[in-house]
Amino acid sequence: MKIIDFRSDTVTLPTDEMRQSMFDAKVGDDVLEEDPTIQKLEQHAAQLLGKAAGLFVPSGTMGNLISFLVHCPRGTEALLGDKSHTFIYEAGGISAFGGIHSHQLSNNDDGTIEIEHIKSAVRNDNVHFPRTSLISLENTHNMCFGTPIDADYITSISDIAQENGLQVHIDGARIFNAAVALNVDVKELVASADSVTFCLSKGLTAPVGSVLCGDKDFIHEARRMRKALGGGMRQAGIIAAAGLVSLDKMIPQLKIDHDNAKRLADGISTISGLSVNTERVHTNILYFSVDDSIMKGSELVQKMGQHKVKFFEVSPNRFRLVTHSNISLENVNTTLELFDTILH
Ligand SMILES: Cc1ncc(COP(=O)(O)O)c(C=O)c1O
Repeated sequence: MKIIDFRSDTVTLPTDEMRQSMFDAKVGDDVLEEDPTIQKLEQHAAQLLGKAAGLFVPSGTMGNLISFLVHCPRGTEALLGDKSHTFIYEAGGISAFGGIHSHQLSNNDDGTIEIEHIKSAVRNDNVHFPRTSLISLENTHNMCFGTPIDADYITSISDIAQENGLQVHIDGARIFNAAVALNVDVKELVASADSVTFCLSKGLTAPVGSVLCGDKDFIHEARRMRKALGGGMRQAGIIAAAGLVSLDKMIPQLKIDHDNAKRLADGISTISGLSVNTERVHTNILYFSVDDSIMKGSELVQKMGQHKVKFFEVSPNRFRLVTHSNISLENVNTTLELFDTILH
């Protein structure tokens, strides 16, 4: 029996078309800027996002780190959400490698940060304070229910940035999910940002890689920083080829993933002992909890695992499910039946 794996959309496997394109890829030494497949991917990604240039990087983490390193001189301060992936899950890289002071501001449940909090967090010029250099946003927001953040909010943040001479970065690991959920061109969501990184290896199902986009000067510096971090890859067109298939073929899949997450949430909301806020489900991520007087969270994970349904308990009795191309509507229905059987 197939494993139904809701742990993350990072578990997606490359499609047959991706594998074939990897086999056929024309490659060269990308550190010498001679890999035609990487160049094609970078140009295509930049064009889709409405930016002047792109840079293929091994991971979303490296794309974010490079962006911070380029935007933030050592000892300056970056404003970011207290539930952001960069703050929580990127091993403190911005401070370890960049000497960047992180200033965490409370994320609302929809992934936004109060505009007033951002305004008042920007430092005055005073010898006691670090200088503020960057505002970083995340879209969709992983820890905040996978919520997509709309263009109006992002524009209002970039207005503050402009008034104060700051840069804006978007961790758009799932920016195409946001565009699909909001039914807008992805360009609108990133138009007012100075840099954006998105992942090919999540819902878009490529095996490896992310693309960082921005203006030509930014990407020129980012290329240098990528080299310094050891992220200059040679004949990596082999993997970039799969990314081109992601952009050409996989974006419509995201709508199916969102519909499956909604169906899952609606089903969970009818099972006694489980609770979920269905209003919060807009993309491919949902959080739910179990009443531990019925069953402990760890036991629920273990029992579902015995039936080959995998997911993470993110805090006691609270779980995250992520839908993706390897999960069908039938898998969703099987999962709902299993929850019901196991709990009652
Ligand atoms: C919002 C967000 N940003 C960045 C990343 C990092 O991506 P990677 O795993 O490719 O380093 C992730 C990974 O899950 C993510 O969810």
